[in-house]
Amino acid sequence: MRIIRTLPELKVALKALRESHKSIGFVPTMGFLHEGHASLIKQSTARCDATVVSVFVNPTQFGPTEDLSRYPRDLERDQNLCLRLGVAILFMPEAAEVYPTGFCTSISVGPIADVLCGEFRPGHFRGVATVVAKLFNMVQPDLAFFGQKDLQQTAIIRRVVKDLNLPVDILVAPTVREADGLALSSRNSYLSATDRARALGVSRGLFAAEKAFAGGLRDADQLTALARKEMAGADEIQYCRVVDPFTLDTLGGEINRHVALCAAVVIGGTRLIDNILLTPNGENVQFISHLDV
Ligand code: PAF
Repeated sequence: MRIIRTLPELKVALKALRESHKSIGFVPTMGFLHEGHASLIKQSTARCDATVVSVFVNPTQFGPTEDLSRYPRDLERDQNLCLRLGVAILFMPEAAEVYPTGFCTSISVGPIADVLCGEFRPGHFRGVATVVAKLFNMVQPDLAFFGQKDLQQTAIIRRVVKDLNLPVDILVAPTVREADGLALSSRNSYLSATDRARALGVSRGLFAAEKAFAGGLRDADQLTALARKEMAGADEIQYCRVVDPFTLDTLGGEINRHVALCAAVVIGGTRLIDNILLTPNGENVQFISHLDV
């Protein structure tokens, strides 16, 4: 595995891969890798000849009062995991490499960036869309892998790829959870034991709604109310909504199509998000990459 920190080095390494006609899979991350990232890397190594992982805590996607300075980091552990999983290139640029002096161009995403998390994190998805587009241009992958836990991020990236004709296919892999249901997130490391116990209400709420849905309940408001009840131990429920998984439009009334139930809560100062997919015909949507915009 090559560890690369600069763009000229990355260019040379990628040129060699392309000249030998290797397909390139890309997993962009902010590091502090967990089993969720590992599952994306495994998807990539299974499908592509060479996998590139980036570890970059992107400053432009954090608001002024958010956790940029204390975002968890463990580069040595990240390197070991990537090595073990057969990653070809680990790209770990400094901020100045990604945003050199004078940088002033960014991607304005439109209404899907203003709903859900966008309501509470203004500017967040502009930062995500911009860095992901930049990383795509740097790596020029054939396939890029993202986790379903960040459902809004996946919808936005698919939109950006389509709207800007970026030559990359996006695959979305299912959320990886702890045995007790908690969705894996680097930010789980902020949770105290009591906060972690409270955080379980999020997945419990989503699963309660999923069970009721499987049992025939189709009313979006009743499903949401069931989920919210389990999440009541959170300090704040920022949203808990049934949405279209691609447009992110909030849906009410009778559900008769594929939807997502998405939630964001704050517990002990930590913001957590999670979601589940609900499919009326009962099919088990384990891997949603085949659903296109
Ligand atoms: O999901 C993340 O870790 C980040 O938002 C991403 C896609 C790496 C962009 O910084």
